This record gives sequence, structure tokens and C-alpha cells, in this order.
Amino acid sequence: MSNTNSSPVREVPVELGDRRYVVRIGAGLLDGLGAAVRALCPAPTATIVTDTNVGPLYAERAVRSMKSAGYDPQSVTIPAGDASNSLEQAARIYDVLGASRMERKSPLVALGGGVMGDLTGFVAATWLRGVPFIQCPTTTEADIDASVGGKTAVNHTSGKNMIGAFYQPRLVLMDIATLQTLDDRDFRAGLAESIKHGAIRDAAMLDWHEQNAARILSHDPAILAELLEKNVRIKAGVVAADEREAGLRAILNFGHTIGHAVESLLHYEWRHGECVAAGMVAVARIAVRRSIMSQADADRLEKIIAAFGLPTRIPKHLAADEIIALTKTDKKVSAGKVHFVFVPRFGETMMRDDITEDDVRAVLAEIRAGS
Ligand SMILES: NC(=O)c1ccc[n+]([C@@H]2O[C@H](COP(=O)([O-])OP(=O)(O)OC[C@H]3O[C@@H](n4cnc5c(N)ncnc54)[C@H](O)[C@@H]3O)[C@@H](O)[C@H]2O)c1
Ligand SMILES: [Zn+2]
Repeated sequence: MSNTNSSPVREVPVELGDRRYVVRIGAGLLDGLGAAVRALCPAPTATIVTDTNVGPLYAERAVRSMKSAGYDPQSVTIPAGDASNSLEQAARIYDVLGASRMERKSPLVALGGGVMGDLTGFVAATWLRGVPFIQCPTTTEADIDASVGGKTAVNHTSGKNMIGAFYQPRLVLMDIATLQTLDDRDFRAGLAESIKHGAIRDAAMLDWHEQNAARILSHDPAILAELLEKNVRIKAGVVAADEREAGLRAILNFGHTIGHAVESLLHYEWRHGECVAAGMVAVARIAVRRSIMSQADADRLEKIIAAFGLPTRIPKHLAADEIIALTKTDKKVSAGKVHFVFVPRFGETMMRDDITEDDVRAVLAEIRAGS
């Protein structure tokens, strides 16, 4: 298969039985959106949900492509930013769907980053008890992680992603060319999840990150295609083995226990991936303290994170007590115990629920002090 830029289209399946779907990765794929969706969802209408940054750049192309495939599409534009991952914005989309001729078979297309994917997926899961959902991710975060796997959610005042559902897309179409307009900070932030994937699942991928950092950071299209394929294969493998996080899937939370706490304390001032980067540094240091990981591996992980311009420290003004309190409200807490994911050796993981507040406090003191 080829496309407008004559670069190959990579295809990775997510093997989930009757909910199997493919992730297509390539430059210029957005122009083929309509034809790809038509093959899966025969319906007269379709709705594209996008945000105020992505809409002006790409919605017209998506709409045109849907029209040329015979759809009568409508689009909804949501304010950009994490604050839009809310029931309020979900309600706005429901209103549009209710007022239009959307049928049960009409697809809902998320065009944007992880926020659009999570919000649109949640609406797709709940509207008419489920309508076909298509992901068109446009950020590194969404390509590398969020668009694959079917976790959809909106935030609640009590926490991030508190209201949601597992709901798989029918297709994920990654047009890598869209990454060229992404802000450099957002571009780098998503790479934290790629480092995470290497750390938990594929030691050779960490070497690859070290060797190719400059090419990745220069947005070299060939290396980006390879980067996305590597990540989608890892994510798809984990999701296929444990779709609903009964076990294995929890390894994807490496760096997220402290990362999520930092994210909510910073009121989303930092990008999700930046919080995960600092969270991985913290958990690696806890691992060294508890003799789970070698100092050399922890140092190496920290170096890779820094090489991609991602934070290895957390802002000094964040109180350790507040971070610790928030780790206890994490969705992964069970029987009152916080479960941390560790990487004893690159490519391998271990869950532990015996980490003390003192361990966390000591490491936070190190990385808050800037040492
Ligand atoms: N569902 C999951 O499994 C999962 C996994 C990882 C992350 N997430 C969620 O994803 C969210 C973060 O995703 P994100 O970093 O993509 O955030 P985002 O959707 O807010 O996108 C980041 C910013 O980039 C802009 N943007 C997006 N694509 C663009 C493009 N091609 N050109 C120019 N600007 C563009 C957006 O408007 C936004 O301002 C978090 O809420 C996180 O919890 C979900
Ligand atoms: Zn994440």
C-alpha cells in the first residue's frame, strides 16, 4: 500500500477477536479517511470531533474526505486543552448528535490529541449505548499511547479519567504528517510514553532511542513512522493480552503513579507526558533505594529522558505530602495499598505494594531539591 507521499503505509493489528481493528500509520492518510471509514461503517452521516487548534489545520481535509466517500459529515469543535475532557463538553457533543440525524451506525471520528480521543471515545461508548468510533490521532501522545487500547474517559472533580469505559475504536488512522504542526513541547511530551514502552517491554528499543534521539527530535518522517510502529506494536500486544487491565496492562502505568499526582497538583500546567517523565525518574529512584533496580539503569533511564528534553525533576513548590496523598487516590489503589510498577531490568516489570511513605518522601526530596 502507498499514499500521496509514496512512503509505505504500516499496518498493525490489535487482536481482540470480534473487536479486532487495525492501526494504519503513514504520511497523508487523512485524505483517505472517508474511504477507510466507509469500508467499515456504511451510514449516511458521520460526526468529526476536533479541537480549536486541530480543527483549523485539518478538519476541512477530514470533512472533504468523508464527503467524497459519500457521507454527509458534520463537525464539532471543542476548546483545546485538558479542561475539555469533561462531562460538560461531552454533553455539548450529545446535544449536536441529538439535534442531527446521527444513527446507530453513524461513526464518530476523533480528530486531535489524547484529549479529543478520550472525550470522543467516551461519547461514542455511551451515545445510543455505543456508536462506531474512529481515531485520527494528531499528537505523539495519542499516536504512541492514547489512541490504541480503548480506554476512554472524562475527568471528574474528584480526579482524572474517573468516568469512562473500555470502548475500542474500529480503526486508528495515524497521519504522521500532522505531527509537523505540533508544538515542540507537545511533541517531546508524548515521547515519554515511548521511553516508557521501551523500559517496560523492549530493552533494545531504549538503545534505539539513544541512537536516534536527534533524528526523532528533528521530526524525520522515516524515523517517526518507525517510532510509531514500534510503540503501537507494544501497546497493541499488551492490550490484546489484557484488554481490561485485569493484570498485565497495569505495567503501562510505569511512571504514572507519581506522574498523575504531579499532573493534578500542577493543574495541568505540565503536559501529561512531562509528568510521566518525572514520574519515571521518581519510581526508578525508589527502585534503586529498595534494591529493585541498579543505579546504572536508573541513571541511564534518567539520561534518556533528559536527552529528549523532558523533565527529570519536579517543581519545588509541590509538597511531598500532597503528592503522597494523591498517589493513594490513584485508581490503581486496592485494599488501601498503592501499587507501583517497577522495571527491575529493562524490558521486565514488577508490581510492588510495599513501598513506604518514607521511600517516596526521600526520593521526592532528592528530585524536588534539584539534586
Ligand atoms: N486513553 C488512553 O489510554 C490515554 C493514554 C495516554 C494519554 N491519555 C490522555 O491524553 C491526554 C494528553 O494527550 P495530548 O498530549 O495529545 O493532549 P491534547 O489532546 O491536549 O493535545 C495537545 C495540544 O496539541 C494541540 N494539537 C493536537 N494535535 C496538533 C497538531 N497536529 N498540530 C498542532 N496542534 C495540535 C491540541 O490542540 C492541544 O493544544 C491526557 O489527558 C492523557 O490522560 C490517554
Ligand atoms: Zn500516560
